[in-house]
Amino acid sequence: MPGRDPRARLNIVVGVAGGIAAYKACHLVRFLTERGHRVRVAPTPAALNFVGAATFEALSGNPVSSGVFEAVDEVRHVRIGQEADLVVVAPATADLLARAAAGRADDLLTATLLTATCPVVLAPAMHAEMWAHPATRDNVATLRRRGTIVLEPAVGRLTGADSGPGRLPEPAQIGAMALLAAERPGALARDLAGTRVLVSAGGTREALDPVRFLGNHSSGRQGFAIAEVAAHRGAEVTLVAGAVDALPDPPGVRRVDVVSAAELRAEMTSRAPAADIVVMAAAVADYRPARAAEAKLKKAAGAGEGPTTLELVENPDILAELVRTRGAAGPVIVGFAAETGDAEAGPLAHARAKLARKGCDLLMCNDVSGGATFGAEDNAGWLLAPAAGEAGAEVTEVPRGSKHAVAAAILDRAAAAAAAR
Ligand code: CTP
Repeated sequence: MPGRDPRARLNIVVGVAGGIAAYKACHLVRFLTERGHRVRVAPTPAALNFVGAATFEALSGNPVSSGVFEAVDEVRHVRIGQEADLVVVAPATADLLARAAAGRADDLLTATLLTATCPVVLAPAMHAEMWAHPATRDNVATLRRRGTIVLEPAVGRLTGADSGPGRLPEPAQIGAMALLAAERPGALARDLAGTRVLVSAGGTREALDPVRFLGNHSSGRQGFAIAEVAAHRGAEVTLVAGAVDALPDPPGVRRVDVVSAAELRAEMTSRAPAADIVVMAAAVADYRPARAAEAKLKKAAGAGEGPTTLELVENPDILAELVRTRGAAGPVIVGFAAETGDAEAGPLAHARAKLARKGCDLLMCNDVSGGATFGAEDNAGWLLAPAAGEAGAEVTEVPRGSKHAVAAAILDRAAAAAAAR
């Protein structure tokens, strides 16, 4: 799906409705301006009870108004929406969703929603009862039917002591989704409703003793992005997460934490039969120490007297095992290959060999020469699928983009493969 250049400078309207989470909109404005975009904040009059116009003006560097009768000579209520490349509303309260669904235009924000022809992303935040109410469910369904992107709320602590679905996702999560909507229109369509997606992410830690382990540099970002995008596309998502950077839970995703390759294997092999799509984005340690000491290993007193050789045993190849053990109606299985290339072959040649070895339906290959990719916000590479003929693989380039855009590209292909099974 062709999209916009991810480096383009966008005109973004950040709408803010009147809820306690309005303070998080300040961080969202920062997130977007730090990436070079021009931001204009359109708070509802109620939002200004929570955060003052001066704060939004200082953070965006642009004037802020909330009513349709301010600066009438500039006809702002029409122009702001017309000129926008992206509109993102955070928080979108139950009242804002109702007014947007009804097509009201009683303040600058709702008028902007009516005049915008660009992608519109709403990030709901409200009490769990309000989110579950049939009126809100209907409003969300109406908005989604019209092509508005309504993100899943996070589950967690709400304003008071209560907790449940209705929490505003973290500003960086909303920002990433909003930029994805601008970068790849259609990337957040609700096309995965009814699809069960199982994703592994992060590195495994193989214990040497109670305080030490063998691990790797995987940040978990790409796997988390896949889980997050799949959930916003309507899929039922389980994320099996190993060691990752301090990443917030993707909204709407069931997260299961594991530590070692053995734990990851147990979760993946027991859950895969119930999935339609399985994505092995985890960086699984190929080897583990033959024995994990029960007590902390001590350094021997004299130089050269301590243990200097580590005995390792091979871990099972989970991806290959998932492919081998799936039945005829089993899931579409996607693997990852982080390759550097070496004296014998380039990264793509290694990836072709890996696809054949693992037998998966799709393999996402990243060129990680020079440490690129780990912990970065963006990614690029090739998607390989088995094909008849000498080359053995059909290769599609995945252009450089955010890890969320790469996630959308992988999910597009995996969903098409699942539909064809
Ligand atoms: N993988 C796995 N189990 C392992 C090792 C890897 O399931 N024990 C999966 C990874 O999750 C990834 C794919 O296999 O989807 C490729 O991982 P990689 O480490 O590149 O593969 P290896 O087989 O270890 O190949 P290499 O010799 O290049 O390390």
